[in-house]
Amino acid sequence: MTLPKSKEAPTSNLALDLVRVTEAAALASARWLGRGEKEAGDKAAVDAMRLVFNSLDINGTVIIGEGEKDEAPMLYNGEKLGLGKGPALDIAVDPVEGTNLLAFGRPNAICVVGAAPAGTMYNPGPSFYMRKLVVPEAAKDVVDIDAPVPDNLRKVARTLGKDVDDLVVFVLDKPRHQLLIQRIRETGARIQLHSDGDVSGALMAADPRSEVDMMLGTGGTPEGVLAACAIKGMGGRILGRLDPQSYVEKEAILNAGLDLRDILTTDSLIKTDEVFFAATGISGGTFLQGVKYIGTGAVTHSLVIRGKTGALRYMEAHHNFDKLMKISSVDYD
Ligand code: FBP
Repeated sequence: MTLPKSKEAPTSNLALDLVRVTEAAALASARWLGRGEKEAGDKAAVDAMRLVFNSLDINGTVIIGEGEKDEAPMLYNGEKLGLGKGPALDIAVDPVEGTNLLAFGRPNAICVVGAAPAGTMYNPGPSFYMRKLVVPEAAKDVVDIDAPVPDNLRKVARTLGKDVDDLVVFVLDKPRHQLLIQRIRETGARIQLHSDGDVSGALMAADPRSEVDMMLGTGGTPEGVLAACAIKGMGGRILGRLDPQSYVEKEAILNAGLDLRDILTTDSLIKTDEVFFAATGISGGTFLQGVKYIGTGAVTHSLVIRGKTGALRYMEAHHNFDKLMKISSVDYD
């Protein structure tokens, strides 16, 4: 069959490989649920993630990893991932997004990865914190990160066909958000306060099926880039601005040549539609179900997104430990 000139033949979907990376990390780290050992849960996820990544036909470089090489023995910024064949990719990882959520058995700890062609992913450099505003597709053109909170809430409510007091806004429960929370409450809008996990928050805000309508507040810059990988495919919008939380962070950002006035958008965080995203639930919650061990194996729930096609898959996987443990070097059992 010949294709019309403007069309192309189907190409592979890397996100379907990436989900094996996040599943492995979730299966390994969920053993640490509620055991109070933050580092151990993270290490289990990192080890599993790295092993599966290095089985893939990619030539990846970690842009968003566990930190600088000296502090992070694995999945550090600049680390090469994959078999070195195939496309050169920028890789973003968060082996456990919500390390405290996992350590204390709270909902919404997830494993997350994103990948895009080399040079297309925003590199946060020394920036740890970013102010974020996330809305679903229907409200993407009415928000302005510089507008007062009540204005944005009123516009989002109107566009979604709701009253302001119907809205639910996801906010991280941090002292820095005291004023933001007060402003939201004054409008009558409702709030979901979460101690951690604003990648899940961003995805819930972008997903029109979720009860969350919007996310506001300051969280990690790397988490903002990861959320943008997903939003590219699922629709919606993320707007942001670097928001250093200390003098040292501010100086480092300025020395790195980044501009604190720049408004970051979905398209400046990820400068292509050729982006792939996968996330797997660890602790379970409102966004993705967590790992369920069933003696002979485990069940995982993942979200898999391809930016170019907008294909979004919710995937339930049944893992058989009797078979898996004969071949796997990761100890899932
Ligand atoms: P970790 O997985 O690194 O613990 O991050 C959890 C998290 O809550 C992110 O979701 C969020 O972006 C960031 O921390 C907020 O940072 P802080 O807790 O320092 O305010």
